[in-house]
Amino acid sequence: MMNQQQSSIKHIGVLSSGGDSPGMNAAIRAVVRTAAHYQLQVTGILHGYQGLIDNEMIALDECSVSQIIHTGGTILRTSRCEAFRTKAGMETAHTNLKQAGIDGLVVIGGDGTYKGAVEFNNLFSFPIIGIPGTIDKDLAGTDYTLGFDTAVNTAMYAIDKIRDTATSHERIFFVEVMGRDAGYIALHSGLATGAEAILIPETKTYIDQLVAQLERGWKRKKRCHIIIVAEGDDAGGAMKVAAEVGKKFNSIETRVSILGHIQRGGSPTVNDRVLGSRWGFAAVEALIAGKKGIALGVINNEISETPFEVAVKEHGVVSEELLNMMYILSS
Ligand code: F6P
Repeated sequence: MMNQQQSSIKHIGVLSSGGDSPGMNAAIRAVVRTAAHYQLQVTGILHGYQGLIDNEMIALDECSVSQIIHTGGTILRTSRCEAFRTKAGMETAHTNLKQAGIDGLVVIGGDGTYKGAVEFNNLFSFPIIGIPGTIDKDLAGTDYTLGFDTAVNTAMYAIDKIRDTATSHERIFFVEVMGRDAGYIALHSGLATGAEAILIPETKTYIDQLVAQLERGWKRKKRCHIIIVAEGDDAGGAMKVAAEVGKKFNSIETRVSILGHIQRGGSPTVNDRVLGSRWGFAAVEALIAGKKGIALGVINNEISETPFEVAVKEHGVVSEELLNMMYILSS
């Protein structure tokens, strides 16, 4: 337990920013309840960094965060804020924070949120702790990000259903999952559903190889294939890949299914509720301990701390083991 008496932090602000992710509410609840435990004041900032600029703030106490741990989305709402990329926007945000008497901030979001935190810290040296809230799992310094587990389970259930109809109709399905720059959702949902191919931005996609695989399958009377395409794959999204494949292989009927934003919503899994709670708790303790400029994570089930700059520089390396396994199991 921390010694709050010696800390200069008396009033914490909390916001969620960028794409929402299941588990954000669990994290907000933990921030508020931990702060209350240490007798700190808590203010919720609405609509992410935009709310800092527009001064949209609400007082939060233990009761404000009742009945939310099981809900998807974020009670604080969120946005992608262009104005916060400007010096003028940041100055307004800083003035509003100071006027509200907030002396430490917890930001829940992904790489855009962390980049904003880096710039803000460079300008004002303001204490900020980050919680990795993104379904994409595209941050370094952590094994998981908040919402990834829920998103990948949502994708898995959807792909299982697609498999049923693909089998009945003997079709190839190109299923697009989220992941602008990262293939983790594609890789994990593809492995979990026994996909015949998984196309991800981290590896080069060769349409000819895919076509050759489908032809081999055709020769041994395989009529149903699930091809998972990460939206950020270098060959394009599922529509584009299906069209390219269709130019060279049309022995089997194909369909495209884009899972889209259903992957971002829904009640968080156990993993995301517990991780969100652990990170919310750790974020408040980190601020009380005088830490700043760090992104929380989890490595080997221990809470980790990584400078924002490092967390956004690259996303975690896709495991060679999983990649090799993907090629062997999905052929
Ligand atoms: O939050 C991450 C993410 O879901 C990406 O996987 C996706 O590319 C992007 O957000 C979509 O963002 P938006 O909802 O703003 O279109």
